[in-house]
Amino acid sequence: MKEKLEQLYQTISAEINNAATVAELEEVKNNHMSRKSELNNIRKQLKDLSIEDKKIIGALTNKISQDLQTLLDEKQEVLKTAERNEKLKSEVIDITLPGDYLPSGKMHPITKSINEIVQIFQGMGFSVIKHENSPELETEYVNFDMLNFPQDHPARDMQDTFYVQDRDNVILRSQTSGAQIREMLSHKPPIRVISPGRVFRCETVSARKHNQFHQIEGLLIDKDITFADLKGILNEFIKIYFEGARPTRLRNSFFPFTEPSCEVDVQCIMCNGKGCRVCSGSGWLEILGAGMVDVNVLKNVGLDPEEYSGFAFGMGVERMAMLKYAIDDIRLFFNNDIRFLSQFKGK
Ligand code: DAH
Repeated sequence: MKEKLEQLYQTISAEINNAATVAELEEVKNNHMSRKSELNNIRKQLKDLSIEDKKIIGALTNKISQDLQTLLDEKQEVLKTAERNEKLKSEVIDITLPGDYLPSGKMHPITKSINEIVQIFQGMGFSVIKHENSPELETEYVNFDMLNFPQDHPARDMQDTFYVQDRDNVILRSQTSGAQIREMLSHKPPIRVISPGRVFRCETVSARKHNQFHQIEGLLIDKDITFADLKGILNEFIKIYFEGARPTRLRNSFFPFTEPSCEVDVQCIMCNGKGCRVCSGSGWLEILGAGMVDVNVLKNVGLDPEEYSGFAFGMGVERMAMLKYAIDDIRLFFNNDIRFLSQFKGK
């Protein structure tokens, strides 16, 4: 038995030595150190030996098992380190290699302009209206009736407004002014909000007109609000947006939902008022419509005109961007031509 044990030691230790990989070593371990191994068989036979032999052979069996285990552990460590080193070598990354060029996207000029305008008004205490109060799919009731448009107003014509097929009174909104109504119906004054969004009109597309564009609506309702407040806010806005005071004029105008109403022109930024192609020779460019909220509109939303007054304004975002960045064709905003879009940097 002693010889058998010594022979086993020789065989197994040689196999351990010869194992070239962790997997091979694992196999040696399974073959020779498991319950069904020869070494274990010998251990099972110990009980049949004389006490004297049991002592000697038992001790030898234990020693051989321990020595083999130590050999195994050492070899395992060596193989694992070698394999790890091999892996590290094969995974080496050359950080001096040039990277792949990934062109980054740019903010769309309309989104950029909306962000700029919104930020200016936020700085003056306005907050952005909740999305649900400014839907693109709107009722004729909110878009027109509540805003004091008479039934026969030409803006309601099929030629001007997109009506939704088979749905009575549902339209693609033609203006963001409906957001005023939804806001006043869901909030009590003081109200100081702006509402950026897309609007749709049944227009023939040209360099100056598109059948979809963006507007930013503003509404302020409180006690003792006057036309002077409107003028002050708009002048401040123009000064910040055009990065410096610009000659501005208020022109008398008419909108069904404001009284009095006005339109605001700024001096043409292309010719500084001398008259050019962009301003059709007038020296002025219209940027928005505004006015004091009509008494009828206040009544429509259940506000007492004796207690509250306010102003509203609405501007075209494309127009504002065209003026600021000297863009002469509105279609450029919708064509998704990367050569145009990639010129706009920043947030
Ligand atoms: N909704 C008007 C339009 O689309 C613009 C406008 C004019 C908005 C006067 C207003 C306003 O809030 O007071 O032409």
